[in-house]
Amino acid sequence: QNIRRLVLGNWKMHGALATNGQLLSAIRSAWNQSSGAAACDVGVCVPFPYLAQAESALTDSDIAWGAQDISVHAQGAYTGEVSGAMLAEFGCRYVLAGHSERRSLHGETSQLVADKARAALAAGLTPVVCVGETLAEREAGRTLAVIDEQLKPVLALGREAVAAMVIAYEPVWAIGTGKTASPEQAQEVHAAIRAALQGVDCAGVRVLYGGSVKAANAAELFAMPDIDGGLIGGASLVAEDFLRIAEAG
Ligand code: G3H
Repeated sequence: QNIRRLVLGNWKMHGALATNGQLLSAIRSAWNQSSGAAACDVGVCVPFPYLAQAESALTDSDIAWGAQDISVHAQGAYTGEVSGAMLAEFGCRYVLAGHSERRSLHGETSQLVADKARAALAAGLTPVVCVGETLAEREAGRTLAVIDEQLKPVLALGREAVAAMVIAYEPVWAIGTGKTASPEQAQEVHAAIRAALQGVDCAGVRVLYGGSVKAANAAELFAMPDIDGGLIGGASLVAEDFLRIAEAG
């Protein structure tokens, strides 16, 4: 099956107006001139305060933008939260749900992550649902069981919802550590995710790999049959690196 690739940057809590401006205009002009856009979708998930900047820098380009989190609520007394409708007003296409840093630092459960994915869909956004095991879980031989548990409430949203999502597999031990999963290690988990998606008749959903993807290792990861692109942290902050990864997509 031929699934269109997606390379998504996750800036995490990095950036400033001046440096963002340079980064966004560099990736915009290079990607628009590249032939890569024919084969691969590209986007950047920026901190909330920079959504308007991303919108103004990337409108009418081949690069989409999005946010890194979303409230499960539509509106109300939820201090500090940001709704899907607000993200949509700033032209977001994507929103991350359940990044491992949200799960580990903010106690997000898999059910909450599924609720966030549903809130994103309700606002017309594409949720990028992140899953992944810790090193301890991998060493205990629990990787596939953990992924299964994390996916369960998401898949329970049903075929129509799942079909409109992106899944990102990010082994926690590979995030920001410089330790990438080998293409074979990643493929094993991606194949399991694909099988779970197939169970709700959604085998065409894109499954991204994230965790220390660099320009030097992107091509071998993306060459694996069930890896449909990447979720890129650190390397998305350097225009040249991010573009090289996108070219590999
Ligand atoms: O969302 C991105 C991932 O957490 C990967 O981050 O590329 O810096 O390892 P990294």
